Amino acid sequence: MSNEQRKVIYSAMQPSGVPSLGNYIGALKNWVNLQNDYDCVFAIANMHAITVRQEPAQLRKKTRDLLALFLAIGIDPEKNILYIQSDVTAHAQLNWILNCYTYVGELQRMTQFKDKSAKHEENINSGLLTYPVLMASDILLYKADLVPVGEDQRQHLEITRDIAERFNNLYGEVFKVPEGFIPKVGARIMGLQNPTRKMSKSESDNENNVIYLLDDLKVIANKIKRAVTDSDTEVRYSEDKPGISNLLNIYASVTDKTIEEAEADFKGANYGTFKSAVAEAVVERIRPIQEEFARISADKAYVDSVIEQGAQKAARIANKTLSKVKKKVGFPDRPGL
Ligand code: TYM
Repeated sequence: MSNEQRKVIYSAMQPSGVPSLGNYIGALKNWVNLQNDYDCVFAIANMHAITVRQEPAQLRKKTRDLLALFLAIGIDPEKNILYIQSDVTAHAQLNWILNCYTYVGELQRMTQFKDKSAKHEENINSGLLTYPVLMASDILLYKADLVPVGEDQRQHLEITRDIAERFNNLYGEVFKVPEGFIPKVGARIMGLQNPTRKMSKSESDNENNVIYLLDDLKVIANKIKRAVTDSDTEVRYSEDKPGISNLLNIYASVTDKTIEEAEADFKGANYGTFKSAVAEAVVERIRPIQEEFARISADKAYVDSVIEQGAQKAARIANKTLSKVKKKVGFPDRPGL
């Protein structure tokens, strides 16, 4: 594909914890496949992460580690733009402008806002409410055509489109209105102990519910072997079998098979055999990632250079869009100080 025809992909992940297997299957794994056909921009969304209290030294470390993990799974910093959100000041600036084009009512309807407000009753800060506006700013700054995310981000993409269209209706075609890019298999990996709720990296109540990409490999296998199933015996994908369906989803995703192929692999197998096979497939997928992560994160100078270059490349694109927006809303057309 020639450069002119290449579409732009944008996605980001919060450094709010070590990524889970859900983050890997719903997002990271797909990013690696997209980098050959698209111009990709991937960010570490550390500004989003502070909507929930973070310990500063920990946040700094988790931010670097997440970047090293992006590299370890195979995202090439030469082919893509890989950067830390807070390094590019245009995000905060566009965020303010777009806040003024977003209604409080539409933000209050966001499921994630309602969930997080219930979970962090002691800290319902306005960042938690305006979080989707920052996310819209991220995406719109880079004129993304497609945004590969898991199912839980669908509503945030819809509001991004609404904000972009509202702004364009007022000022002309300033923003590209992006499309979501949600995988067919693995867009919503569920908890292993509670397969009716999504697996989340920021969950702390039950460690066995979540597989973290940097968990010891033996721990990963044990977590899968302990996963909740049901009293039936058949390995079959079905709404009334959430535990087994989730494991089938995981297996299909890490072996790059369809659900039907995954079911066929376990026709007549008992749950024990099935779980062992899922555990092995996951461990074999994660093993090389962990080895690469150890190698790359030890190379501080390399990680620093990727961070520096990523910020430069991202800022160049973001500032161009910001400058256009500032002109449209009536701010003096001068570069910021
Ligand atoms: P975050 O950090 O919660 O999750 C990162 C990505 O992982 C996906 N994901 C899952 N996919 C499948 N199963 C799961 N259990 C699961 N849990 C998480 C998410 O859908 C996401 O794709 N607001 C975003 C970060 C963000 C962003 C953006 C994304 C900030 N700006 C701009 C896209 C574009 C978030 O909190 O993702």
